[in-house]
Amino acid sequence: MPPTNNSPSKKGKGPTTHDLQCLTIRELELLARDRMDKQTRDYYNEGADDNSTLSENSSAFAKYRIRPRVLRDISDIDPSVSVFGQRNTLPLGVAPTAMQRLAHTDGEVATARACRDMGVVMGLSSFSTCTLEDVADNSRPNANVLQLYLFEDREHSRKLIARAKKAGFKAVLLTVDTPMLGRRNLEIRNQFKLPSHLKVANFRAQEEDGDALDEEHGEARPKQNQNQGRKKRQKQSESVAGHHDGEKWVSPSGPVTFHTHAANPKLSWEESIPWLKEQCGDEMQVWVKGVATAEDALLSIQHGVDGIVVSNHGGRQLNGALATLDALPEVVQAVGGKVPVHVDGGVRHGTDIFKALALGADFVWIGRPVLWGLAYKGDEGVKLCLRLLIDEFRLCMGLAGVTKVSEIGRDYLVRMSRDGLPSRL
Ligand code: FNR
Ligand code: LAC
Repeated sequence: MPPTNNSPSKKGKGPTTHDLQCLTIRELELLARDRMDKQTRDYYNEGADDNSTLSENSSAFAKYRIRPRVLRDISDIDPSVSVFGQRNTLPLGVAPTAMQRLAHTDGEVATARACRDMGVVMGLSSFSTCTLEDVADNSRPNANVLQLYLFEDREHSRKLIARAKKAGFKAVLLTVDTPMLGRRNLEIRNQFKLPSHLKVANFRAQEEDGDALDEEHGEARPKQNQNQGRKKRQKQSESVAGHHDGEKWVSPSGPVTFHTHAANPKLSWEESIPWLKEQCGDEMQVWVKGVATAEDALLSIQHGVDGIVVSNHGGRQLNGALATLDALPEVVQAVGGKVPVHVDGGVRHGTDIFKALALGADFVWIGRPVLWGLAYKGDEGVKLCLRLLIDEFRLCMGLAGVTKVSEIGRDYLVRMSRDGLPSRL
């Protein structure tokens, strides 16, 4: 990779090296496209229904323009922020996305290494194809957070939370936009199935090792239970989704797959959040991921969550829902600074990060670009993805005339009206 001298590196010292094949996230997307099999590419890239929310998540950023300020000394730009108790290189984290070994053989471990090297917080999906312990081992001292699907069988989730705590995860992000699984048509048409050499690692370990694993994590159970567990597992070779049998609700059973277990129609503010807060105790924060209205933002605060991620699951759940950038202002206003507000969905440029922050977000997350980086070159590809966004964001800060993230506010943005004229926020 040839060095250039016209663009400062992440710390602002010395030149950046470029991958001349890949200078933008869009180019990364195209490079990744050829390196994934059809099932993986479709699963990663598609949204729900006709993908309109997926594409609006990105196009919403074009509704705004930046108002740059000039003749300010910007020779010392600091794009870093504090999040989950660590200094993060920029106000951006890696969102939890499921089954990363579909993209690269090292999967979530490669992502963890890249995040550690770049000083960026990593969100790990419940449906990871590496165990959370392996991810933690490859992360230290970098901060991780665990995305949680709260299953109907709370025992699965209780064990997972205990393991995350032990492994030093800083927070759980409870995904709240998935009481049912969105309709992803390509996933249906391809009859998506995790290839047999890959496993939903966290639960696989719990299912296979059962109580032996409990002992390993300091929660020994009586021998008798182990035998019962083994018999039950033999019967449950098939994964069955929860359903209504005409009279009553039948909970999901069998090995944990995202198709059968991710959705949980029984979650509620009153029952789920207190349970989760109790499990997490003082060691891990409890966040909700998938809030998109002022009403739910207020309920989040009422129930004592530590933070909110405005998200529509990358357009994979309710198609026709507001783009997250458009939902952000009402959430920010309702929250009134009581807890941090993060946002994800469609962030593909440094200027997108700037715009989201100017609209009141404290931090943004990216999902698919990291998967594209993984597919392109494993941990090196994820680092490349992060480096592109760090450099672009830094450049945007400088050209807009700010040197600290805390200076970014509404004054730096205008909204373009239908007639093509800008209006101040
Ligand atoms: C996701 N997302 C997600 N969210 C979550 O809470 N748990 C999960 O397991 C997953 N899995 C997942 C898989 C894939 C393939 C994608 C694309 C997304 C949603 C993710 O955390 C995030 O909200 C979006 O990806 C953000 O949008 P962009 O950046 O992908 O546009
Ligand atoms: C998805 C689930 C696993 O979006 O969150 O595919």
